[in-house]
Amino acid sequence: MYNDNPTLINVNKHIDESKQGEVLESFQSGLESEKKFYIESYGCQMNFADSEIVASILTEDGYSSTRIMEEADLILINTCSIREKAEDNVRQRLRQFDKVKKIKPGLLVGVLGCMAERLKGKFLDEEKLVDIVVGPDAYRDLPLLINNAEDGQKGVNVLLSREETYADISPLRLDSNGVSGFISIMRGCDNMCSFCVVPFTRGRERSRNPFTIVAEARDLFERGYKEITLLGQNVDSFKWENPETMEIYSFAMLLEMVALVSPIVRIRFSTSHPKDITDDVLFTMAKYDNICKYIHLPIQSGNSRILELMNRTYDRSWYESKVKRIYEIMPECAISSDIITGFCTETEEEHQDTLSIIEWAKFTMSYMFFYSERPGTLAARKYKDDVPYDVKKKRLSDVIRVQRQISFEHNKLDLGKTFEILIEGDSKKSSLDFKGRNSQNKAVIFPKIEGFKPGDYVNVKITSYTSATLKGEIV
Ligand code: SAH
Ligand code: SF4
Ligand code: F3S
Repeated sequence: MYNDNPTLINVNKHIDESKQGEVLESFQSGLESEKKFYIESYGCQMNFADSEIVASILTEDGYSSTRIMEEADLILINTCSIREKAEDNVRQRLRQFDKVKKIKPGLLVGVLGCMAERLKGKFLDEEKLVDIVVGPDAYRDLPLLINNAEDGQKGVNVLLSREETYADISPLRLDSNGVSGFISIMRGCDNMCSFCVVPFTRGRERSRNPFTIVAEARDLFERGYKEITLLGQNVDSFKWENPETMEIYSFAMLLEMVALVSPIVRIRFSTSHPKDITDDVLFTMAKYDNICKYIHLPIQSGNSRILELMNRTYDRSWYESKVKRIYEIMPECAISSDIITGFCTETEEEHQDTLSIIEWAKFTMSYMFFYSERPGTLAARKYKDDVPYDVKKKRLSDVIRVQRQISFEHNKLDLGKTFEILIEGDSKKSSLDFKGRNSQNKAVIFPKIEGFKPGDYVNVKITSYTSATLKGEIV
């Protein structure tokens, strides 16, 4: 379950869909070479995927990676601005880097990602310890900026682009478990949800050439990966026009192309926007067994007035009709959500609507947050952040409580069922158990049996459950 405390997730683990926000770390130990970089990533899966692009660019430039910060000549921090807390975590981390800097003169520190984009040159003034600031669309410029910084010239490049998709760069899979791989299919966001900073930090939406996506998927498959997650802030609005044939590729088409890479590779995607997910996408999901029956479909609020203020462009009944359609086409499909409590002017009654939609839609899980005003957003400019902190927090705990109950009831229905599970690795608690997921993205823990390894599919019968996990046995 999520609350607004930092959560440590490693890129090599299967990251829950749309785990956007807080602390994530990724490291990699590389070959011995003269210059070493250390990179730490915060925020959403797209930021993680970007760190892999950055690692690839730096490797081409002669750097190797290290997971030991003290060993590095260059420390990079790929940052997130989604909530105030996320930015606080980064500032705190920069203080710690500064200590390393003091004992290692010549060490360079670079800030990448959304906070770099949001704060731009201010970073160099405010945070004296930072040498370079690079926004999400300017990573190709990193070698040059690093060179300049080595000569004592601090540098900033936060230009956003309408074209950059890094389509030609093969990501260096950082600390991967070799089972689950992530592919960015688009960048930016053209929606203007009033609470959200992403359109400002990531720029305009643009989709990547689908043939480069399929090539990347095939490469992952050939290297033994068994699960591919297609990433974008709003995958359903994926749209690419072939400049030669003028043919337009939709998300449903892309999904099919990737599903056809191999029937033994599972396909997932995140995030879907309720206004854009089409029947075509749902039918494509239903058609292919290897497309997981799981949709992350953030609602944000269950109340239509609040949804309007949030500029989500759908209301409660539109959302309900999407959910009905999903269950109609794929009765076994699981749906999860993102929820914000205490948005501007939200009343207690409106909050109750959010609680009731969790129950109505039967979300298997949700990422839940209290509203955090972000400078420059529509909401910050137009509305008063007038729900008291304590009320926001109380509403968040209500939402968490109800979601936990619904997750528990959902899991209860799985008792006695047998699922095909992709083994991801050891369970966190015991090396005697494996952890994997079913198609519905539920985590399943089960005792190891000789002969099975991560990347294998096994049938597991569910014998017990909590609100967060299923437990079972290989059958
Ligand atoms: N593109 C995705 C989500 C992107 S951000 C979508 O549209 O659904 C991930 C989640 O962070 C959002 O779904 C939202 O629930 C939360 N979030 C975004 N801005 C926030 C803010 N200002 N305060 C609190 N939560 C926020
Ligand atoms: Fe933010 Fe809305 Fe875009 Fe999601 S769809 S990234 S919430 S603006
Ligand atoms: Fe955070 Fe930027 Fe992702 S603000 S959630 S890292 S797009």
